[in-house]
Amino acid sequence: QIIQANAFHSPKYGKIEFLENVLFCVDAKGVIQDIIHTDHPDYLQVLASAKEAGNLQTYPKGSYLLPGFIDLHVHAPQWPQAGVALDRPLYDWLNQCTFPLEAKYADLNFAREVYTDLVHQLLQRGTTTVLYFGSIHSDSCLELAKACIQQGQRGLVGKVVMDDPKQNPEYYRDSSTQEALAETERFILKMLELNQSAPQGVYPVVTPRFIPSCTDEALKGLGELAQKYDVHIQSHCSESDWEHEHVHTRFGKTDSQALHDFGLLGKKSVMAHCTFLGEDGAKLFAQTGTAIAHCPISNAYFGNSVLPTASLQKLGVDIGLGTDISGGFSPSLYDNLKQAVISSRMLEDGVDSTKPPEERGLADSRISIIEAFWHATTGGGKALSLPIGQFKKEFAFDAQVVQIDSQNKPYTMPDFGLFNSEEEILQKILYLATPQMIREVWVQGKKVYTNH
Ligand code: GUN
Ligand code: FE
Repeated sequence: QIIQANAFHSPKYGKIEFLENVLFCVDAKGVIQDIIHTDHPDYLQVLASAKEAGNLQTYPKGSYLLPGFIDLHVHAPQWPQAGVALDRPLYDWLNQCTFPLEAKYADLNFAREVYTDLVHQLLQRGTTTVLYFGSIHSDSCLELAKACIQQGQRGLVGKVVMDDPKQNPEYYRDSSTQEALAETERFILKMLELNQSAPQGVYPVVTPRFIPSCTDEALKGLGELAQKYDVHIQSHCSESDWEHEHVHTRFGKTDSQALHDFGLLGKKSVMAHCTFLGEDGAKLFAQTGTAIAHCPISNAYFGNSVLPTASLQKLGVDIGLGTDISGGFSPSLYDNLKQAVISSRMLEDGVDSTKPPEERGLADSRISIIEAFWHATTGGGKALSLPIGQFKKEFAFDAQVVQIDSQNKPYTMPDFGLFNSEEEILQKILYLATPQMIREVWVQGKKVYTNH
């Protein structure tokens, strides 16, 4: 099929490319085979024959395609709790609020109800690929994968492992280390089977919750399972003062080094937060190809610090964006793009005005909204080592169609014939688009959502 549209993407960090009225040639597998520009000699011919064959989708002026966003960190079972209980420190929030909620997912019907809604809510905000934490219950996690398949979202799903009886409440933990590892392996095999019926991909993810939840034996076993099946790995790393302290006391090394020693870093690893990664940790991530899920809203509440994305980027660490529902209250990566910029500005300029200017802030920390856009798209694709996040040959056709012109009443943006350069239009979309302006969402060449 052929899709004729205006589109923005960011193949290079800090740069945008505007594709004006191009033809996306998408094959039966949903992969972009070609992108034909208006000055190409075959443009009119390809357009005419697509029209004749009835497989042309065309978007009018005022509609812009953006790559579908890639959310690298969502706790699916925490969705009912989004926006509440954000006033506690991480340890209390986990034990008093989050674990009791996650324990409810022993109930498959409850899981199905929540997960169906969550996948829909994320899709309608333009998020086409999600790296999900489930709960400890494998069968509920399979329900999440099924919700992804049903609604056409690309989902990477992990059954959470938390096996240490000293660290986790009896009502919410794996019954033993052996059980945790056996259930993870069963889950991986089931997911590989489900993936057969998901053209967009649903993938299993090895998921130790974080080092404090797991025994050494579980961490080691999970590293071995990830290697055996060559699957993705996710966890939390260096998130808070409390977590950092725990790992230091237990192993006498950093969180990142400990994860590495258990075989849990690598090209398919994505670690959430990493606000206390430090320079050695950053180098280890860059060397091993481990990526960071940057969750700027959540970090403002639980992270005890701002992730210095600009300097990590310079060290060659892959960084994508995550909402961290419900440590982050918003299901929208648009909100997180903005917070990524705002947090970086506060890091650079300093927030303590009682200090003289030269003692405030961390120089060269600010990022632009265009750089944040790169993290939500191209950066996310690199983090997952999947061909997604860019409009490029051999990449999946994943797109959100944002309509900003006056036909889309009442959801318009300021347009007085001013500030309408290509970059200004994209900036306005990234700062001001509402979910209502996202008119359609495509995943793997298939339209999976419309709001009109
Ligand atoms: N660390 C361990 N579990 C969690 C969680 O659910 N959310 C966040 N933000 N941090 C965690
Ligand atoms: Fe998290």
